[in-house]
Amino acid sequence: MINLILFGPPGAGKGTQAVKLAEHFGLRHLSTGDIFRREMAEGTELGKAAKAFIEAGKLVPDDITIGMLKNNMVAHQPGTGFILDGFPRTIPQAEALDRLLSTLGASVSLVISLEVNDEELVNRLRGRALTSGRTDDADENVIRKRLEVYKNETLPLKDYYRKKGVLEDVNGMGTIEQIFSDICSRIRPLAG
Ligand code: AP5
Ligand code: MG
Repeated sequence: MINLILFGPPGAGKGTQAVKLAEHFGLRHLSTGDIFRREMAEGTELGKAAKAFIEAGKLVPDDITIGMLKNNMVAHQPGTGFILDGFPRTIPQAEALDRLLSTLGASVSLVISLEVNDEELVNRLRGRALTSGRTDDADENVIRKRLEVYKNETLPLKDYYRKKGVLEDVNGMGTIEQIFSDICSRIRPLAG
């Protein structure tokens, strides 16, 4: 069972690549951001709890996020691996994921960290704001806040995965197809 994490700042291309990789390798794509947005649109309790944090560009608290991810993972057909996009974002989330996967007899196979500079990130998110309808893209201050939160709260996770020997940095600048092909070449040995 291959379990991948797509790691990187807002706008790095996690969602874009995750959709393609999930199809190519037959993995189940789980995006915590997409799930929160769906719950917000449906006006569920979970959506209401997450809304203020997302609109401010802050992380949703760990207990809410971990509970939500657990529910989504166990509701899943056993045996197929996952591609996680936007999770984990804190050390407690990473530890919870390790425990959860170990109950399935599995572990994190590979963490792909998409490396993109800030200028390109802001340009991409400004571009996406025109069509995404995402409230956290509409305001430049919220975009900056998300980048700051990434650096302060999420970036330290790279060390956590580097120590486990599963981290690979990938150049996230270039065409979507070039980056996809680079990531595929790193996953293929695991699938073999
Ligand atoms: P989330 O939905 O995960 O957003 P994010 O991390 O801010 O990342 P984005 O979705 O904005 O970017 P992406 O890396 O997916 O890039 P994309 O492929 O879209 O989280 C949103 C919020 O939910 C968080 O702020 C937080 O509040 C909450 N949340 C979610 N998970 C959480 C967690 N685990 N814990 C706590 N809170 C959590 O690409 C971006 C744009 O660039 C697109 O327009 C795309 O078309 C374009 N693009 C992609 N690749 C390229 C390329 N190679 N060249 C040019 N353009 C490209
Ligand atoms: Mg995304």
